[in-house]
Amino acid sequence: MDKKVRVSAPGKLMLFGEHAVVYGKPSIVTAVNQRLSLKATVLKDMVFELNAPEVEIINYEKNLVDLGQGVIPKGAKFIEIALMNFFKKNPVKYGVRIETSSEFKATFGFGSSSAATVCTIYALSKLFDINLTKEEIFKLSYKTVLDIQGVGSGFDLAAAIYGGTIFFVTGGKVIKPLPVKSTPLIVGYTGIKADTTTLVNKVNKKLQDNPKEVTGVFASIEHLVLLAQKAFEKADFEKIGELMNLNQSELERIDVSSKQLDNLISAARKAGAYGAKLSGAGGGDCMIALGDFSIRKNIERAIEDAGGQVLRVDVNAEGVKIEKS
Ligand code: MEV
Repeated sequence: MDKKVRVSAPGKLMLFGEHAVVYGKPSIVTAVNQRLSLKATVLKDMVFELNAPEVEIINYEKNLVDLGQGVIPKGAKFIEIALMNFFKKNPVKYGVRIETSSEFKATFGFGSSSAATVCTIYALSKLFDINLTKEEIFKLSYKTVLDIQGVGSGFDLAAAIYGGTIFFVTGGKVIKPLPVKSTPLIVGYTGIKADTTTLVNKVNKKLQDNPKEVTGVFASIEHLVLLAQKAFEKADFEKIGELMNLNQSELERIDVSSKQLDNLISAARKAGAYGAKLSGAGGGDCMIALGDFSIRKNIERAIEDAGGQVLRVDVNAEGVKIEKS
């Protein structure tokens, strides 16, 4: 018994709308061309085996009946709970061995947990010949993320499943591909890993303490996302840059930026970027800038001189897919 499948899913970058998207507002997210890949092999014993060296999981093993029980190491959580949720809906009489590898570090904020969740569900559906639509993959993946984190909009799962650049509303209420071609995006990593749940909870506390102001911020962000959607449709990068700057100001009002992010953002703007903002939860991870291809090198150098690491990625990557094993 060695039926196996190898799949991969892209990482993501939030372009517009972070935080507000947790509260029913729209966002724009793109899939990046750095992928997490996952090989799943059927086992005759009803056990789950996992090797995910990039998150320090080596020879992890559990009986299927114990999935979700006991202490689960951080690096195994999303795959184990995804497996449990899948098997609850689709019981099988076999076990599975999972091995992952990633082209990007889990610390970048590219959504490695989401990509791993999506890959797990997709691989299991292929392995056990269970036809799942993209919506069904999203539903099971989103349940998994909420089971673990309790919070989150699910935008990162949509990027991993659908790929491309998408207009996304909380919980997958709307998932609409945007006609975006090559985008002159520059990505700078602060070197600091942000904890999304902590930042989402911090914004929630702000919302409770100061509902009028924070609701106002969310409404402004929604407006910017809608304008950005139009600007993307026209490939008007100058306009998109301007909207990025405005989105960043709104994020600063809810205090999710950081000194390192501010330094990299201001360096990119001074080097001639159309605009720049943080991407994701804030507090660290990555910033993004948009600048003409002709001055790309200057912007990259400015980000590096300000202490950032430039991550060279392309946007609009393909969603989850089968790879040659
Ligand atoms: C985190 O990358 C983006 C947030 O909007 C959270 C989410 O949408 O799940 C802060």
